[in-house]
Amino acid sequence: MNIPFEKSKALQQRAFKTLPLGVNSNFRFWGEEITPYIQKAKDGYLWDVDGNKFIDYRMAFGPIILGHAYEAVNAKVHEEIDRGVLAAMTTELEVEVAEMIAAMCPAVDMVRMACSGTEATMHAIRVARAYTGREKVVKFEGMYHGFQDYTLWSTYAPSEALGNANSPIPVPASSGIPRRLNELIVTLPFNNFDVLEKTLRSIGYQTAAIICEPCLGNCGAVEPLPGFLDFIRSKCDEYGIVFILDEVKTGFRIARGGAQEYYGIRPDMATYAKALGNGYPVAALGGKREIMSIIGHGVSQGGTYTNNKPGIAAAWATLKLLKDEPILETIEQRGRRLMDGIKSIFSDAGIQVCMSGYPAMFSFAIGVEKVTGQRDWNNSEKDYYLRLVEAAIERGVMPDHDPREPWFLCYSHSEADIDETLNVWADAVRVTKQ
Ligand SMILES: Cc1ncc(COP(=O)(O)O)c(C=O)c1O
Repeated sequence: MNIPFEKSKALQQRAFKTLPLGVNSNFRFWGEEITPYIQKAKDGYLWDVDGNKFIDYRMAFGPIILGHAYEAVNAKVHEEIDRGVLAAMTTELEVEVAEMIAAMCPAVDMVRMACSGTEATMHAIRVARAYTGREKVVKFEGMYHGFQDYTLWSTYAPSEALGNANSPIPVPASSGIPRRLNELIVTLPFNNFDVLEKTLRSIGYQTAAIICEPCLGNCGAVEPLPGFLDFIRSKCDEYGIVFILDEVKTGFRIARGGAQEYYGIRPDMATYAKALGNGYPVAALGGKREIMSIIGHGVSQGGTYTNNKPGIAAAWATLKLLKDEPILETIEQRGRRLMDGIKSIFSDAGIQVCMSGYPAMFSFAIGVEKVTGQRDWNNSEKDYYLRLVEAAIERGVMPDHDPREPWFLCYSHSEADIDETLNVWADAVRVTKQ
C-alpha cells in the first residue's frame, strides 16, 4: 500500500498472535501487510490507525445507512441503556420496533427480533421447515445467507466446481459443514427460469423453502431478471413452498420497504439486519401471520440477546428517521450520480463495464457485457477491479477490496464526497489502464 501503513502492519502482526488471521471475521482480512486497522469512523468517513482518512463505501458491509456514529441514533441508545441494557422481559420499545417493521415492509404481519443476519435466516429456515413439515431448502449460487451450516453452500466457487448449470453441485464454503447436510440443500443458478422449473418438478413437494436475496447482494449486486422473483413466488404457490426473501442487505436500504416495495414482490417470510440498526447488533425475521404465529406452538425461537437494548433502541431511532425523512431519496439521488459518473469514466476510457444494483448499493463487472449469475460474473476482470480499488484507496476512497462486495452509500455522504470520489476514480482508471 502506497500510503503510510506502518501502524496497521504492526497491529496486524500483534493481532496474529491472538486472533486467527488477526481479525474477528474472515471477510475483514485482505492479506498480510495490506489489511487496514481502524481508529475511528464518523459520518461517511473512516480513519485508519496510521491517520489516513477515507471516504468509506464499505459501510461496515452495509449496515451504516445514516452515517457512522450518527448522533440521533447514538442519543437514543444512550438514553435507553441508562434504563438497563438487557432484561428477561419485553419492553414497549420492542413492540414499537416490530410495529414499525410491519408497517414499512409490505409482506410482514408479524416479527421476531434477533441479533444478526445469520440468526435471522437460521430461524426463518426452521420456521419454514416446521410450517411445511418438509426439510429441503433451495438457494441460489453466489448468494450468502450468513454463517449457519444450512445455506453456507455455493456462496462463491469457481465455475468448474459448480458443475453443469442443469444439475449444479452444491459446494460447501467451509470445512466443518456436515456433509450430510448436502441432502437438505439444493443450489441453483440465479435467474435461470428453466432449471428452477425442472428442479421443482422433481423435488418441489419435498422443499420447505426457497431462500433468495433480491439480487446477488454478495456477488456484484447482480439484479433479478424481469419476472424472476415473481416466478419464484408462483412456483412457491404451486408447490406449497415458503418463499424467504433475505433482505439483510436490501432491507431499509433500497426502499423503505426494501425489495418488497422496490419490486412489488410479496414473499412469505423476510429476514433483516444491517440497515435496520445503522450498525448496532439487531436483526429480525418476519412474515405472514399464518406462518409466524406457529412460533411458540411447538416451534422454538429465541435468544438471550434478541431484545438487547442498544440494538432495539438503534432500530427504533433508525426506522423512525427512515420512515419520516427523505433520507433514502437523498441517498438514491447521490448514488445515482456516483453510478452514472463511474460508468462514464469507464466509457470515456474505452473500458467495457456492466453496472449492477441500486444507487444505495451497487457494483460493476469489468470486461463483460451482461451478467445474470455467479457463473458469468466469474468471467469479469477481477484482478483489474482489485488494482483499481487499491489505487482508489491510496487516494482516500475505500470501496471493499473484494469485488463481490457492493459499494454502499449512506445519508452522510455529501455531494462533495461524490465529486471527490469521481475525481479519484478517474485518476485510478488513468493510472491503472494498461
Ligand atoms: C443477504 C445476507 N444474509 C445474511 C447475512 C448474514 O448477516 P450477519 O453477518 O449479520 O450474520 C448477510 C451478511 O452479509 C447477508 O448479506
